[in-house]
Order: sequence, then C-alpha cells, then structure tokens
Amino acid sequence: MIVTIPNSLSPASILAFAAELDELPPADLYEFDFGRGRWFPPFSMLLLAIILKRFRDARPDCRCRARNHENHTYAAHLGFFRSFGLQHGNAPGAAPGSDNYVPITALAVEEIRREAADRWIEVGDVIEGKARELAGVLTRTDQGALFDTLSYSIREIIRNTVEHSEAPELLICAQYWPSRNEVEVGIADAGIGIMNSLRRNPSFAELDERQAVQTALMPGVSGNPLAGTGSDVWQNSGYGLYMTNRICRSGGKFMICSGHAGIQLTATNKTDLEGNLPGTAIRLLINTNRLTDLREQLQRFHEEGRRAAQTIRGANRNFASTASQMLSVDFQSDQIDDDF
Ligand SMILES: Nc1ncnc2c1ncn2[C@@H]1O[C@H](COP(=O)(O)OP(=O)(O)OP(=O)(O)O)[C@@H](O)[C@H]1O
Ligand SMILES: [Mg+2]
Repeated sequence: MIVTIPNSLSPASILAFAAELDELPPADLYEFDFGRGRWFPPFSMLLLAIILKRFRDARPDCRCRARNHENHTYAAHLGFFRSFGLQHGNAPGAAPGSDNYVPITALAVEEIRREAADRWIEVGDVIEGKARELAGVLTRTDQGALFDTLSYSIREIIRNTVEHSEAPELLICAQYWPSRNEVEVGIADAGIGIMNSLRRNPSFAELDERQAVQTALMPGVSGNPLAGTGSDVWQNSGYGLYMTNRICRSGGKFMICSGHAGIQLTATNKTDLEGNLPGTAIRLLINTNRLTDLREQLQRFHEEGRRAAQTIRGANRNFASTASQMLSVDFQSDQIDDDF
C-alpha cells in the first residue's frame, strides 16, 4: 500500500495525516512516498517523525519502506529520517548544529537527572544550562533579548517535559532565520499528555483534553497540587506555559498539541486544531523584530498573570516568585561585564 506524505507540511495537515494513518487498513507493506523536496520546518519535522515512529512501532510485523526520501536533503541532514528508524541521512543530534539551527535532538530525562545528582545541583539548574546552550547555538551569542527569550522559553518547556510528562526523553528541533527575523523551536515528548497531568490536581480532574490544553495556558494553573507552596525556587507555580505563550504572541505564534486537542495562538487569534498525538508537542514561533528586554516583559506578564489568576478557579494565587517567573535562576546576578 502506498501512503502519500501530505504536500503541505503545515502542522495542521500533519495532524490530519496522523488521523488518516490511524484509519489505514492492515497491510504487509506500507510504502511512504515523501514526494518532491519542499519546505520542511523544524516543528513539522518533529511532528511527522513522531507520528511515523508511532505507526512503525504499532506494526512490528509489517514492512515500511520509503520512496522519494532522497529529495529531502535538509530534513535528512537534520536527522529527520533516522529519528523514526529509516537509515537515511544523519542520526538525530549528529549534524554539527551550526548555521543557527539545532538538528532533531533527543534529550534523555534520566541523563538530566543523573547529571544533576553527579554535580550536586538541581535538575532545574541542569535544564537551564542546556537551554542556554541551545539558545547559544541558535543565536551564536550568550546575551541579548533574543538569547534571553530563547533560553527562558526553552528552559520552561523542557522543564515541563521533565517534571510532568513521565516520558523517558524529549525531542527538540529549532532554527533561526536572521534574514526573516524569525525563530522556530519545536519541543515534543511522548508522555502522558496535558490532560492526564493536569488531572492530578483535584481542581482540574474533570477537564477533557481540549479544556485541559486551554486551561494549562492560564496563569497559576498547574497539575501539581502543591504548586505555589514551599520556598523552593524550582517549585511549580503554574506560570511556565502562560509566560511562554505570551512571549511568543508578541508578533509570533504559539502552538500546543496534546492528545486529540491543539491550539494555536497569535496576538489576536485563537485557532483550535484537531490532533492525534502521543504526549505533548509545542511550537514557539518568535518574531525577532518585536523583542524587548525580557526581564521587563516577564515582570509585566507576571503582574498581569497574578491579577488574572485571582479569578481562575483552582489557580495558584500565591504571590511568591518561582523559576518560571524569572529570566534566570542559576545565572542570575547583577555582575557587571568586567567583573569576575
Ligand atoms: N509536557 C507536558 N506533559 C504533561 N503535562 C504537561 C506538560 N507541560 C505542561 N503540562 C501540564 O500543564 C501544567 C501547566 O504547565 P506550566 O508550565 O504552566 O506550570 P507548571 O509547570 O505546573 O509550573 P511552573 O512552570 O510555574 O513551574 C503543568 O502543571 C502540567 O500539568
Ligand atoms: Mg512549567
């Protein structure tokens, strides 16, 4: 049976393709036709790789073959084909990661935890280090509004997969196009999904998948029933997704898909998407023309979020600041450039 990969590789058409794959009748051989070379953005690459891997894993007894995959040199370079098991192109993480991109890269949660234990530091600190490293690869710098925005947002999304998804690993893929003033970051896990995680908090136990995805973006909303308590700076307070979606929406877009539900948000619009995805996938599209000092921005969102949280049922209304409301925890200092 020939299965044609959709012509448009937008997230919406890939999600629709995932639903089609579910409906395919049993066959001994599935031949996936990748068609002509075309625009293959990082998040779409992640989504398609996850969906094809799931299809493959669910049918251990049948054969899956690819055709026309040679037309996609960029995707092959970034580890796309190997990430779902086809021996073509680079392995995930193998491309050098120059030219402002991060190839499809798997981060193992266990390794992050082990590194934290070995170095006697918090898991959050290890994640912050990794996020800064990735933001550095994308921007070729270690300071400025774009670097801050990326390291903060990547840190918060990676933290979520480590703290909430129960998945053994996460995948990340990203690219910065300086000439287009745009950065795209995709981060995905094949974990329990937003609804199952949010339901651990009795206040959100009744939410369905779509309501859960929508609610998780609100300030103070956390699946962790202890959110907002204690004095640990890495304690959850329910602000990570609220802050990152607001940052992206100043001129860019934020997309989150989990299970059967997805949402895309821009400064003025909300679009519902039908999904069919194991776990959670997030796309950050950042317009680099619109970036302002992130510390000020976080402060403003933080204050607005706290006001809004007062009216959200089940939201954490504690006023203590935690990591998700701060630009940097481990690296936060008032150090002047010349000091050492
Ligand atoms: N990758 C994920 N997998 C499963 N659930 C998730 C994932 N990301 C977010 N969630 C759910 O969405 C909730 C809200 O996430 P958010 O980052 O806004 O807050 P938090 O992580 O609880 O707290 P904070 O970010 O302030 O530390 C989480 O508590 C969790 O229940
Ligand atoms: Mg969080």
